[in-house]
Amino acid sequence: MAEVLVVGGGGREHALAWALAGSPEVTRVYVAPGNAGTVGPAGDGRAGLERVPLAADDLEGLAEFAAGRGVDLTVVGPEAPLAAGLADAFAARGLAVFGPRREAAQIEASKAFAKALMDEAGVPTARWRSFEREEEALAYLEEVPAPWVVKASGLAAGKGVLVSDDRGEVRDFVKGLFAGRFGVAGNRVIVEEFLSGPELSVFAVAAGEHFVLLPPARDYKRIYEGGRGPNTGGMGALAPVALDPGLLERVGREVIAPTLAALAARGAPYLGVLYAGLKLTSEGPKVLEFNARFGDPETQAVLPLLQSDLYRLLMDAVEGRPDAAPLETAGAALAVVLAAPGYPGEYPRGLVIEGLEEAEALSGVHVFHAGTERADGRVVTAGGRVLAVVGRADTPEQARTRAYAAVRRVRFEGMHHRRDIGTEVVG
Ligand code: AMP
Ligand code: GLY
Repeated sequence: MAEVLVVGGGGREHALAWALAGSPEVTRVYVAPGNAGTVGPAGDGRAGLERVPLAADDLEGLAEFAAGRGVDLTVVGPEAPLAAGLADAFAARGLAVFGPRREAAQIEASKAFAKALMDEAGVPTARWRSFEREEEALAYLEEVPAPWVVKASGLAAGKGVLVSDDRGEVRDFVKGLFAGRFGVAGNRVIVEEFLSGPELSVFAVAAGEHFVLLPPARDYKRIYEGGRGPNTGGMGALAPVALDPGLLERVGREVIAPTLAALAARGAPYLGVLYAGLKLTSEGPKVLEFNARFGDPETQAVLPLLQSDLYRLLMDAVEGRPDAAPLETAGAALAVVLAAPGYPGEYPRGLVIEGLEEAEALSGVHVFHAGTERADGRVVTAGGRVLAVVGRADTPEQARTRAYAAVRRVRFEGMHHRRDIGTEVVG
């Protein structure tokens, strides 16, 4: 019998905790710091969830907690603690953790590292140049055609990328990056080739050079319907995405396998989810970015499809063989994010959320909490992305109907969401 610790407090972590609590081997799932949803029985005979008041970046506190409780496995949601060395701190104490060490986590934390690794491994990606001086970056942008793609090399919480054909906006962005608008993230700037095509998120559960691919997902990143407006952390997701036959295997062969091999060859073998953010171009899949973790909100749509036991899969990975057993999945799922008024800009907190129980009572529906807290016995908003309402069914169409039926039961002041999640629209 096993106890698990999930690190993080968003919708992805609620979905991870819920899925892990469904394992016959798991008796308790701790979530640090969790949210209002990661408390109590996880439903249908699942193990109980319990919040732990430790921040995701309190590496020592988390390691002490895991050691003190005899936690059998720690699963890390967000990238920042991985980039800060959480997995190294846990390994130093002999604690089992699913997530890459600091060096391997650079695949997300440093775009320059990721790009150089892809070139070395022959992984298809946008052509790129890296600049450490503002004048050189600006001069280069004069030479190459629009649209321009400019990225901070370091972690910038999703705010370090601009895709634009407005020269003035691009110049201002480059200057802002070098002026340290993103702190350390601005020391190095990447300018890359613009790629067109639909996007796809592929998650490999990986250990060394062994991996299994989870059902491919699509993330809807823009705030408004039709893929318009500013980028967000993600306003919804669909899984699986219907792909041409052989395409997912091709991603495994051309993207995941050579990347894992190159990391191992550098002496930084990978353990965790390797998330490839891809563009499906006319020349084939090309990597936009790698992440060192599960995606949010894609995870909320992917995990409900698993028939296999997630705890076993992640433990097999920790033991070096994520491919020890075939992965079983079924059906389709669609996640709709309900956001606070003003998100992705400034938003209020503390708005009372109603209708959660009604929504959860619908068949094939899961409500994963993200920015929620409990106050005076009620669930209130505590973040920009508040909930991910997930419909699961045999087909994507039915999953969509279920998800939106559940969305209609939930209310809070100023709540907004996209109505086109699951449709063909790009973005
Ligand atoms: P990233 O954080 O690198 O995934 O970039 C965020 C978003 O910007 C992606 O999901 C794409 O929609 C867009 N983007 C990034 N790089 C490119 C590129 N080379 N060509 C076209 N769009 C891009
Ligand atoms: N859904 C995008 C991300 O998790 O980075």
